[in-house]
Amino acid sequence: MDLPESTKEVALPKDPLEMIIGQSDAVEAAKIASRQRRHLLLVGPPGTGKSMIAQSLARLIPPPKQEVAVLHNFSNPERPILDVRQFKPCYGKEEGILVPLSRVPKYVAERLGCKCNVCGGLSSTTYLCPKCGSDKQTKGLTPFEDLVSSKGAKTNERVYAIRKCPDGKEEMMVYEKADGDKVRVYDQKSLTKVVDSEMKPRKVIILLKRNTFVQATGASETELLGDVRHDPYGGHPEVGVLPYMRVLPGAIHEAHEGVLFIDEIANLNYLQRYILTAMQEKKFPITGRNASSTGASVRVDGVPSDFILVAALNMSDLPSLLPPLRSRIAGNGYEVLLKTHMEDNEENRDKMVQFIAQEIVKDGRIPHANAEAILALIEEARKRARLVDNASGLTLRLRSISGIIKLAGDLACIDGSEFIEKKHVEAAIKRGRSIEEQVNERYGSWWRAGMSEYGGKIERGDAKEVA
Ligand SMILES: Nc1ncnc2c1ncn2[C@@H]1O[C@H](COP(=O)(O)OP(=O)(O)OP(=O)(O)O)[C@@H](O)[C@H]1O
Ligand SMILES: [Mg+2]
Repeated sequence: MDLPESTKEVALPKDPLEMIIGQSDAVEAAKIASRQRRHLLLVGPPGTGKSMIAQSLARLIPPPKQEVAVLHNFSNPERPILDVRQFKPCYGKEEGILVPLSRVPKYVAERLGCKCNVCGGLSSTTYLCPKCGSDKQTKGLTPFEDLVSSKGAKTNERVYAIRKCPDGKEEMMVYEKADGDKVRVYDQKSLTKVVDSEMKPRKVIILLKRNTFVQATGASETELLGDVRHDPYGGHPEVGVLPYMRVLPGAIHEAHEGVLFIDEIANLNYLQRYILTAMQEKKFPITGRNASSTGASVRVDGVPSDFILVAALNMSDLPSLLPPLRSRIAGNGYEVLLKTHMEDNEENRDKMVQFIAQEIVKDGRIPHANAEAILALIEEARKRARLVDNASGLTLRLRSISGIIKLAGDLACIDGSEFIEKKHVEAAIKRGRSIEEQVNERYGSWWRAGMSEYGGKIERGDAKEVA
């Protein structure tokens, strides 16, 4: 094996999924899940990379496109109106009408930067005129161009103008640049409609700019499903807080368009049922979850919850996973059993070196490891596969190896050493032993350890163990 002189020389991958060592099936499933929006069930022992896979998956999916808000409902305040917007338009795009550039007044086209100062051609490009090939903005037609033309002037994305209607009245018009040599025009009517919805009291409950990774491990009912806060004044318009202002989204809503990660999902018990409903419907109502609170009478229906579920659990907890939820994941996603060890070959030893370098860089406070230290760490991975999983190969219970690397790094720091050396790794392995290992070494068996804790007075039928 070609060992580098130290982990300093190891090039680290940029793709977060490539940082995951030895779990190719799970990584493959995560890639497909992100592209096709499928769910993922990761089963495996602690420290094998389940959380890491879920986080990397979330980084692969595109940023959310919807913003969700609740509006005050004047006629029925306890039923706030749901407002789901695609992106965040400054005007309701659907309200204006699209017209070709040739139909807007010349001065508007000019101020939008759509008219070429050289040939007079109209196009929505920013600099070069597609008709004559000149720079639309810099070459003017008159010697006084800087005074009378728009040369050098900042072009506008939007132009406001007053139009005289046939009945003699004046009305405000807004022209907005659009794609494909078109302009979007808003007249007074469409503007009033837009302004109306803008003016309605509104609370954004799911921001457009949000994280695509939402962790709901060990969440309570309200954290998971949302809530409506209590108001001692019952939402009285004068002294209380209006119901729409008290609506709180749950993790299932915050994960809309993103990843909802639930570690040890079996621990959610009856809450699994709600996750199943939210997954099926892709929406879930928000209501006050405490029957004695004034929030209980408030309800917003159909709040979007279209998430990719990544659930993780240990193999022994599999029977506690709600069967319909499991079948839902299997029917629209992947179940992956994580590996506990990998074959001891050159390729995988290289991966182990990459892992060691990664952990050192991630930690940021410890020095790099030299070749001998790398070998000692690989030997430890070999030993752990044998001891823990009774397998020949290299362990993939990598959190424990990560612990040794950090401990060895700390020892190297204390030593003032430039690198983590073999002696630091050996000392870290000794110090980093589990309580079980320490008990075994000190007392020989748990029974003896128990005897010594109680001063040897414990009476137990099993005489053989005492002997
Ligand atoms: N397959 C792996 N590739 C690279 N690093 C790993 C891998 N597995 C674990 N690690 C390291 O161990 C740490 C813990 O991993 P992670 O939290 O993903 O494990 P987990 O399976 O979610 O454990 P738990 O069941 O305890 O939540 C990671 O931050 C990483 O440093
Ligand atoms: Mg985890």
